[in-house]
Amino acid sequence: MIKKCLFPAAGYGTRFLPATKAMPKEMLPVVNKPLIQYGVEEAVSAGMETMAIVTGRGKRAIEDHFDISYELEHQIKGTSKEGYLTKIRELIESCTFSYTRQKQMKGLGHAILTGRTLIGEEAFGVVLADDLCDNRGESVLRQMMRVYERYRCSIVAIEEVPKDQTNRYGVIAGKEIEKGLFEIDDMVEKPEPEEAPSNLAIIGRYILTPDIFDILEKTKPGKGGEIQITDALLQQAKGGKVLAYRFEGKRFDCGSIEGFVEATNYFYGKAIDGA
Ligand code: G1P
Repeated sequence: MIKKCLFPAAGYGTRFLPATKAMPKEMLPVVNKPLIQYGVEEAVSAGMETMAIVTGRGKRAIEDHFDISYELEHQIKGTSKEGYLTKIRELIESCTFSYTRQKQMKGLGHAILTGRTLIGEEAFGVVLADDLCDNRGESVLRQMMRVYERYRCSIVAIEEVPKDQTNRYGVIAGKEIEKGLFEIDDMVEKPEPEEAPSNLAIIGRYILTPDIFDILEKTKPGKGGEIQITDALLQQAKGGKVLAYRFEGKRFDCGSIEGFVEATNYFYGKAIDGA
């Protein structure tokens, strides 16, 4: 089924400066695991095998993280610390990583289009690593795959947000065709509350059909002068069908300091409970 997952990871992470001056924001750890590793684990849990990562300058630590560190492994071999590397080692072995660089920051839509060379002509998942999701049951991507299996069209994950926060998200409007599943008829990138078509906000999980690439090629810069995936998806919806799925689970906005701290407390609590 869907085997590839795209990770746009070229952004600067300015909200976390100076921490992100020399380190990719995707490598910020929540407890002891970098944000992007949570995302990769989620994709693997949904059955995906190829992680297609769109990086940029200063992002090499991501590639090193998903590679074997022979020196480190040699040093701790046979010691009590060896176990700390077991999980990441298993993760690295369970999938393939491919990379391409986005040379200029021209928006999320542009980042996704840059990944075309890694994806080809097949449907794929997209994970924005700074939206960190956690579930007791199936992961958000896994839930979305189930929807995809039935409808075979692009799908965005949504959640309800307070109306005064619509200007932080892409916001959808549509007809509820099943409980929690909407057929989109409008989408606006970061609308002010008075212009927002609803309070159903897109969070950083998408399943996209490959025709989105040709649409992105033609998409003009929108909000903030950037090429927006939201605008391309609206075009796709107008020509066919795009669904919005209200996922089950928790989501933390780790692109903000507040959400990051919240996630840290939550995952620390979970680690203690599990101990
Ligand atoms: C992006 C998308 C936006 C979406 C959000 C989810 O915005 O453009 O539509 O709601 O991710 O996190 P960003 O947060 O990159 O500004």
